[in-house]
Amino acid sequence: MHKLYITAPNLLEEAEALAGITNCFTICNDIPKEDIFLRLGEDGLAVITPHFKPLYIGDIYNKVHLRKNNLAKELLINAIKVKPNSEILIIDATAGLGKDSVLLGLYGYRVLMFERNPFLATIIYYAMNNKIIPSDNLKLIFTNSLDYFKANSNIAPYAIYLDPMFKKQEKSLAKKDMQIIQLLTKDDKNVDAELFKLAYPLCNKLIIKRDSKQSALVTTPLPTYSKQGKTIRYDVYVNNI
Ligand SMILES: C[S@@+](CC[C@H](N)C(=O)[O-])C[C@H]1O[C@@H](n2cnc3c(N)ncnc32)[C@H](O)[C@@H]1O
Repeated sequence: MHKLYITAPNLLEEAEALAGITNCFTICNDIPKEDIFLRLGEDGLAVITPHFKPLYIGDIYNKVHLRKNNLAKELLINAIKVKPNSEILIIDATAGLGKDSVLLGLYGYRVLMFERNPFLATIIYYAMNNKIIPSDNLKLIFTNSLDYFKANSNIAPYAIYLDPMFKKQEKSLAKKDMQIIQLLTKDDKNVDAELFKLAYPLCNKLIIKRDSKQSALVTTPLPTYSKQGKTIRYDVYVNNI
């Protein structure tokens, strides 16, 4: 079990609701000895680790808000290439901190997020619940996408989006939020090719984010089209279902 440390007894009820999202955290009143834990205080929820300064959830999404006036220019939205309405369901099967989902939701798509890491799922839930991110069109499920797709093969979203973890080639450090995702998921087994196989038949478009220097996630099929940015690329696999 992971630790959720509360700095004052009056935060217990809020902490219980947070712990209940994943059932992977025990609540404690003393500073945990673990290398990484969540801290809920009067100043909000933060990720605590000796690897860097406390990371407040309220600070993670600042830059996403700055992008909301230019959504039509977002590369991911250009890759999806369909007018938004509430019928258009996009599944973000590797939600991470949910930043890409926030942009998709703001643009007007209905977004279902899957995240298997308990820290990250709790962070997204906290951000939605405390209106740090707009959550009107967003729903989060704490699950392994592989298991979800296996158990729900009748689901028919317009698009499924995968943003698999990749190691940066450069020596420069990744951005702070990416560092936290890397730290939290460093021991996870990646099943991205398997995820591709399961997800592709379920949707009209499967969209995979790649570093621009990376090859496609799978050797076949080839992407139907790609949207190339400066440092990243979206490979889109159209499925005429
Ligand atoms: C690179 S991050 C995604 C970042 C995200 N696009 C964002 O905007 O914050 C990849 C995430 O996918 C999650 N992930 C990887 N495989 C998964 C799976 N099979 N099911 C659910 N989540 C998965 C990891 O835990 C990690 O949080």
